[in-house]
Amino acid sequence: MENIIKITLGPRKIYLFSTYYELSRFTLKTWEKISRLAIELRGHFTVALSGGSTPVGFYQNLSFYLPHTLWKKTHLFLADERFVPLDHEESNFRMIQKNILKRINLPKANIHPMATENTDPDTCAKKYEQTIREFFHSEKKIPPFDLILLGIGEDGHTASLFPGASALQETHRLVVPVQYEKIKQKRISFSLPLINKARNIIFLAYGQNKAPILSEVLEKNNQTLPASLVDPKEGRLFFFLDKEAGEFFHRD
Ligand code: 6PG
Repeated sequence: MENIIKITLGPRKIYLFSTYYELSRFTLKTWEKISRLAIELRGHFTVALSGGSTPVGFYQNLSFYLPHTLWKKTHLFLADERFVPLDHEESNFRMIQKNILKRINLPKANIHPMATENTDPDTCAKKYEQTIREFFHSEKKIPPFDLILLGIGEDGHTASLFPGASALQETHRLVVPVQYEKIKQKRISFSLPLINKARNIIFLAYGQNKAPILSEVLEKNNQTLPASLVDPKEGRLFFFLDKEAGEFFHRD
């Protein structure tokens, strides 16, 4: 039996795991539960994935262990993307192809990358918003994803919403272009309104280097940090951490 420490802080349900393996296995079980219910209720499961290094091992486990019966009803979107060609080494979609899609034959219609070629970030964001609205048949309202998987940067960013970036102020658009002086890359990101409409949000973080920022978010609720602004009013908000990343919880 995993020795999982569970802590609830306001809307945030925090789970501390001893190892990344246990964190990944629990995330898989949670994903499976959410997807089964979504498919039962609505006929499909909509999930938006983040990039970065944290989820790579989990994505590999997912592609090995999730039953195909669930995959064929799963629609994969991206919560954010670097504005590079889809085969570029820094592309989130390329990372997802490498760690998930090359092992499962998901129907092409179920895979929704951001089209970053032969366009500009603003047009790309508008097109992805249209893709989302058409998929959900939701021209006006903000559609609810069944699950959004997020990471957290050491500066408190999540998806590609960075501290102080104008994209954080967006109240209408679902998908926004991101120009952030501290990173050279242009990005495309889900906006906070779209993220906060999700039925389920899981933050994944592990390692000592994430402990300070997680203390800022979870212990101090530092509202200057984008990750602190993730608060799905009608959804569930999980933080799946290893004990190093969540060390402030068992600091004596
Ligand atoms: C991206 C991600 C980003 C990531 C954090 C954490 O496109 O890079 O979506 O938000 O989740 O930067 O990255 P690590 O998992 O590599 O620490």
